[in-house]
Amino acid sequence: MLVSAKEMLTKAREGKYAVGQFNINNLEWTKAILLTAQELSSPVILGVSEGAGKYMGGYKTVVGMVNGLLEELNITVPVALHLDHGSYEGAKKCILAGFSSIMFDGSHYPIEENVQKTTELVNACNILGLSLEAEVGSIGGEEDGVVGMGECADPAECKMIADLGVTMLAAGIGNIHGKYPANWPGLSFETLAAVKEKVGDMPLVLHGGTGIPADMIKKAISLGVAKINVNTECQLAFAEATRKYIEAGKDQQGKGFDPRKLLAPGFEAIRATVKEKMELFGSVGKA
Ligand code: 13P
Repeated sequence: MLVSAKEMLTKAREGKYAVGQFNINNLEWTKAILLTAQELSSPVILGVSEGAGKYMGGYKTVVGMVNGLLEELNITVPVALHLDHGSYEGAKKCILAGFSSIMFDGSHYPIEENVQKTTELVNACNILGLSLEAEVGSIGGEEDGVVGMGECADPAECKMIADLGVTMLAAGIGNIHGKYPANWPGLSFETLAAVKEKVGDMPLVLHGGTGIPADMIKKAISLGVAKINVNTECQLAFAEATRKYIEAGKDQQGKGFDPRKLLAPGFEAIRATVKEKMELFGSVGKA
């Protein structure tokens, strides 16, 4: 059964580790992440962007697929199904479709409008027992065609949004989605510490988990980060493994590639990436 991310993140914050959010795009990615979480006895969050939700056939299809896998693969570790960077409309659709966790990315609205829309969603999520993530200070890079500037969040705005009763807060601290440029100055731990000081015990979320050096990840966790999002690294691993398989030309004589065999190396590559991240984040054995 899907669970809200609240309890797993509270435990992570108290135990000084982070739960990984791994984005899903299809059945293979979902199965790879769930089986790895089960094998390592780690809680996990499946992230679904609006684009990925549409690609997979719609939010209800995603909920049906994930619930089916939880039951038929005997997944017993805590799993949250989380809308990633949801619009206001997308958030409402996912609440109705059966997601257990929602991110409302209101960072591009003026703060007053972000507050008003977040308040409405806090109320809806509270009634249904869902967790809600809010964002302050947009995360840089490009995701699903949305390009952020990689700001550092204003700690006072973070407090304003945290006080609305969200479960977790994504505060921009110079992190960006996708690969980090060579001249990236690193995470702003000054901003992170100032945000933490204002929001107290609220679990903080680090987006753009791909390519952040291990020592920075560990320091971020020590300063209150309890959820770390990873997408690009899975994508790179999946693409590279699939490319190698195709180049090796192991197709079935006269029938092209067996679709299950074609995606198997990518599936294994995602498992390996997720395992490495869970070990780095310290969530292994914490289910
Ligand atoms: P990366 O693609 O950089 O790992 O970021 C993922 C993310 O933050 C999803 O919200």
